[in-house]
Amino acid sequence: MIVTTDALFRIAYGKYAVGAYNINNMEQALGLFQGNVKAEAPFIIQISKGARKYSGIPMIEAIIRAAEQLYPDAIYAVHLDHGDEATCHSCIDSGFYSSVMIDASHEPFDKNVEITRRVVEHAHSRGLSVEAELGMLGGVEEDIALDEKHAMLTDPDEAKLFVERSGCDSLAVAVGTSHGAYKFKGQQSLHFDRIEAIQKKLPNFPLVMHGSSSVPQEEVTRINAAGGKLDPSARGVDENEFKRAALLGVTKVNIDTDGRLVWTRVHREYFRDLPQEFDFRKPGTIFVEEYAKFIMHKAEKLGSAGQLPAVRKIVSK
Ligand code: 13P
Repeated sequence: MIVTTDALFRIAYGKYAVGAYNINNMEQALGLFQGNVKAEAPFIIQISKGARKYSGIPMIEAIIRAAEQLYPDAIYAVHLDHGDEATCHSCIDSGFYSSVMIDASHEPFDKNVEITRRVVEHAHSRGLSVEAELGMLGGVEEDIALDEKHAMLTDPDEAKLFVERSGCDSLAVAVGTSHGAYKFKGQQSLHFDRIEAIQKKLPNFPLVMHGSSSVPQEEVTRINAAGGKLDPSARGVDENEFKRAALLGVTKVNIDTDGRLVWTRVHREYFRDLPQEFDFRKPGTIFVEEYAKFIMHKAEKLGSAGQLPAVRKIVSK
């Protein structure tokens, strides 16, 4: 059942975080639905501009509709990840999305407010909610790359002003995460003091954490043992910190890179061990199972596992 992102946030706020996962193809959709249904977790499907281009807009939407037929117990929202203004308007008009993200965080504050405000007005007139971003995360996100020097933590006073002026429904904040596989050298912690300060200024307002993959060392090691060349010193976010962040208002946690690592590990190992094989359905089937296990594990860490019955009661009223 597709529900509004707003409904999921209202139920989860201050208790647990909802996992938001980017998908591009059928195998990811199957693993995502299977994992969340098994974990009894609500979830958010994220579609990026890149995913819309890769699979074609009707294809990615049809994949999601078909997955729902296979997993009718799933409760989820569909969200545009990192939209520009034109893509946001087009997704709002399409009638398929629960929410959109307008990412004008690279613009000066006033311009970010102005663009976000336009998207909010359109989205609200159609019953969708809007995520905006303030502050700059480091790392690489599709066509946006930002080096660590230019990444800035979100200022709590600015966050409050931005939400008041733009009317956005949730805010992606920079609190120590960054996009991609190469987040940190050495383990780092989230900036909990900053999350707390933002929550004080914006009580009961859902915060979003982008760049939240944990880049598991085991995945990196296995990928490299099967011919990959990933930097072994790369570290991600400590997933044991998700629940503490959720208590402070982080209600949506974005995860993409970790799923790509699972895909790469499964396929590299499969073809390394069975070089005579060329039936892609075999590693594809293994990937779906492994991705489903990965999603179940994330749901535990986010605190969203086991929440589905309570969510169903509220959204079915
Ligand atoms: P990761 O690169 O850490 O998976 O972050 C994904 C993300 O924030 C998508 O918006």
